[in-house]
Amino acid sequence: MPETEFVARLKDVTKTHMLDKVEIQALKGITADIPRNKFNVIIGQSGSGKSTLLNLIGCIDTPTTGSIEVCGKDVASFSDDEMSDFRARHIGFIFQTFNLMPVFSAYENVEYPLLINKTPAGERRERVLATLEKVGLVDHRDKFPNELSGGQRQRVAIARALVKNPEMVLADEPTANLDHRTGTEIIELMQNIQAKDKTTFIFSSHDKNLITNAEDLFMIMDGVIL
Ligand SMILES: Nc1ncnc2c1ncn2[C@@H]1O[C@H](COP(=O)(O)OP(=O)(O)OP(=O)(O)O)[C@@H](O)[C@H]1O
Ligand SMILES: [Mg+2]
Repeated sequence: MPETEFVARLKDVTKTHMLDKVEIQALKGITADIPRNKFNVIIGQSGSGKSTLLNLIGCIDTPTTGSIEVCGKDVASFSDDEMSDFRARHIGFIFQTFNLMPVFSAYENVEYPLLINKTPAGERRERVLATLEKVGLVDHRDKFPNELSGGQRQRVAIARALVKNPEMVLADEPTANLDHRTGTEIIELMQNIQAKDKTTFIFSSHDKNLITNAEDLFMIMDGVIL
């Protein structure tokens, strides 16, 4: 995969959702280059198009028109199979609602992506423990999601996103279900990991006050990047 300075490049991207035969133009011509090895922040109010944009970059959805290059690949015309393969290989996701598997322990939730990509057992154990260490949860590894606080659940989700060393981590409003202080801690944790490991993050929020030190900031409003 070519090493470019941008993890994603979007040109004239539009996305129209259909809702009960009504067209909703969620993205109205986005052109943006998103730098690699940075903590990228997307700020925009509810309905501005943040999730639609992240779903395109994350190969969860395809654009209506325009071109998108992710990790050097033209992904706009990928088939469903190509998209899921690309996601599994290259992208880690962190969700607003954590999306942990309730019957799996913290350890097993983090291990899951490595089982999927058939990482050998010894390496798997090393990587799961090292990643749980990064998020400060080694001592809680045998707990189940319902035995953990919201902030701890999100730390498990961060470890799950990071464990396969993805090219980028997409975090769509990961702090929306946390109180302000815990949300700030989660952002600091992601920023510290980013600074140390140089992982590319794309983080979104509707709350511009949550991030005071963003260098790589994109403001989105009504489907347009300002
Ligand atoms: N699957 C869908 N079907 C129909 N309309 C949609 C769909 N997803 C999003 N939209 C519409 O597209 C626009 C952008 O939505 P999007 O979810 O991308 O915004 P957002 O910035 O993520 O909002 P929030 O902060 O509330 O999560 C909104 O008008 C929304 O109603
Ligand atoms: Mg959203």
